[in-house]
Amino acid sequence: MDQNKIRNFSIIAHIDHGKSTLADRLIEYTGTLTKREMEAQILDSMDLERERGITIKAQAVRSSYKAKNGEEYMLNFIDTPGHVDFTYEVSRALAACEGALLVIDATQGIEAQTLANVYLALDNDLEIIPVINKVDLPSADPDRVKHEIEEVIGIDASEAVLTSAKTGLGIEDVLEAIVAKVPAPSGISDSPLKALVFDSKFDAYKGVVLYVRVIDGRIKPGMKIKMMATNAEFEVTEVGVFKPNLVNVDSLEVGQVGFFAAAIKNVKDARVGDTVTDANNPAAEALPGYRKATPMVFCGLYPVENSDYDNLRDALEKLQLNDASLVFEPETSVALGFGFRCGFLGLLHMDVIKERLEREYNLTLITTAPNVIYQVFRTNGDVELVDNPSNFPDPTVIDHVEEPYVNATIIVPKDYVGAVMELSQEKRGEYENMTYLDETRVMIHYALPLSEIIYDYFDRLKSVTRGYASLDYELAGYRASSLVKVDILLNGEPVDALSAIVHREKAVSRGRQLVEKLRSLIPRQMFEIPVQAAIGNKVIARENVRAMRKDVLAKCYGGDISRKRKLLEKQKEGKKRMKQVGSVELPQEAFMAILKMD
Ligand code: GTP
Repeated sequence: MDQNKIRNFSIIAHIDHGKSTLADRLIEYTGTLTKREMEAQILDSMDLERERGITIKAQAVRSSYKAKNGEEYMLNFIDTPGHVDFTYEVSRALAACEGALLVIDATQGIEAQTLANVYLALDNDLEIIPVINKVDLPSADPDRVKHEIEEVIGIDASEAVLTSAKTGLGIEDVLEAIVAKVPAPSGISDSPLKALVFDSKFDAYKGVVLYVRVIDGRIKPGMKIKMMATNAEFEVTEVGVFKPNLVNVDSLEVGQVGFFAAAIKNVKDARVGDTVTDANNPAAEALPGYRKATPMVFCGLYPVENSDYDNLRDALEKLQLNDASLVFEPETSVALGFGFRCGFLGLLHMDVIKERLEREYNLTLITTAPNVIYQVFRTNGDVELVDNPSNFPDPTVIDHVEEPYVNATIIVPKDYVGAVMELSQEKRGEYENMTYLDETRVMIHYALPLSEIIYDYFDRLKSVTRGYASLDYELAGYRASSLVKVDILLNGEPVDALSAIVHREKAVSRGRQLVEKLRSLIPRQMFEIPVQAAIGNKVIARENVRAMRKDVLAKCYGGDISRKRKLLEKQKEGKKRMKQVGSVELPQEAFMAILKMD
């Protein structure tokens, strides 16, 4: 295939603006799959993704399109994850393209992730083609959206393509725009191999399958390749393309997108963003932009049944084969026993891993509340990274503490500016600036502690703006904060897994709320249980869980045995996710109480 006839593109959009639906229509239109072969949304292939309606792992599809000019083009569509947790993966996937379709919902306009993605696309020098989708809806206002695109993003929107991915309107126009506007790849075929890894997946038979874009040179079976970030060398066993199923080919040529396998055992040797080169004729330097994805959110994972500990470790190891950004190490908790401290890119990443552990590996887990990673500067000059509140040092040896901050972008109708500011202030945010997108909507920038974001910022933002706000954020380094550890005591004994790090000014009120919440969550037991919150040795709040004999059968008079059995089974269900902590049984909810206190 002539290099000039290749078009590599991606689709960027805010969540729910129709990216997956549009991708499906494009694939359908180019005949890559017949309608019958096509499942509702093939690109979101993982079950979990489909259920949550979000795209987690980038995918790539090759199709061919005969344009109106009579020429046949090879189109490589690279899908990007849509969530803020995966910004780095989005950026690498975009770096594999020359152009991007910018999909904007005609009824909504630009949202926070629209902008975040546009900036990533511009950073990667992509040609951006605006696509205004959902024009079939009565409230669609494409002219307003065009105006916003020009005002806010500063690109020409006069030739924006109007589509309805639902009805199929405008799909051919999108394909024509791709052919006409996205530049052909400019690599050099007889230079040493340089290929960008934009995703990877573990396959039980092939080993790690690397998704690559060949920038220079070519890659084919039998070649000895080198990963430039790790220097690991492998022999290529097969190369292929996605149609969208894996189909082997003889080679991937300059400018093309596809996959290769090389009997690589672990995704750690095939990091997203790394450059693949020819081991015998290596490129002088790697492609720019490689970095290791670092976990930002941590929590403890403990099996409800202690005997499941080994199974949990096996499951985590298996998941890690496919996900180099998941980290874990063994941890012991006095309260919960043996488990693992796990690190994730963000909250969504955490939820997905938790759900997969439970569903695919049949584990029942207790998870502790998520927290960020703190930098603790000791009075003796040592600096310590603390990823578990229970390891927070004694206040007497702490000089100061720093916590991660994010730059947050919030887009909201102007009537809600006051509410957003009030909330952000309460969440220790520092106002940076505000700009009008048009007469009705504004964009507000705040610096916020990441811990407040993972606490409940987004939920609260949605509720104070009646769902109208969109949020995006990126890490902005560490800042000093006045933080203290609040401990929880049950029956006078501290429960390590319930400790939390909070801002000093909020410590007392959070402590009170927390014991109050725990009182309502801990089932009454045979004896009274005092629940206390303390900072160091000082108790700041106390409640009692009153004693009660819990006998569900007492309510069942007479001999309806099936009803009794049902009740007993229900009680057993309720017990499943409980952990015996000393003499008290704690439900899963107790460990998450800190997150749910309103
Ligand atoms: P994420 O995968 O979460 O990023 O979302 P997405 O951007 O891929 O959106 P998706 O394609 O899942 O579409 C979101 C919703 O909008 C779905 O319910 C679609 O059926 C609907 N939708 C997509 N395109 C159109 C359209 O042109 N018109 C109408 N009326 N609905 C559409």
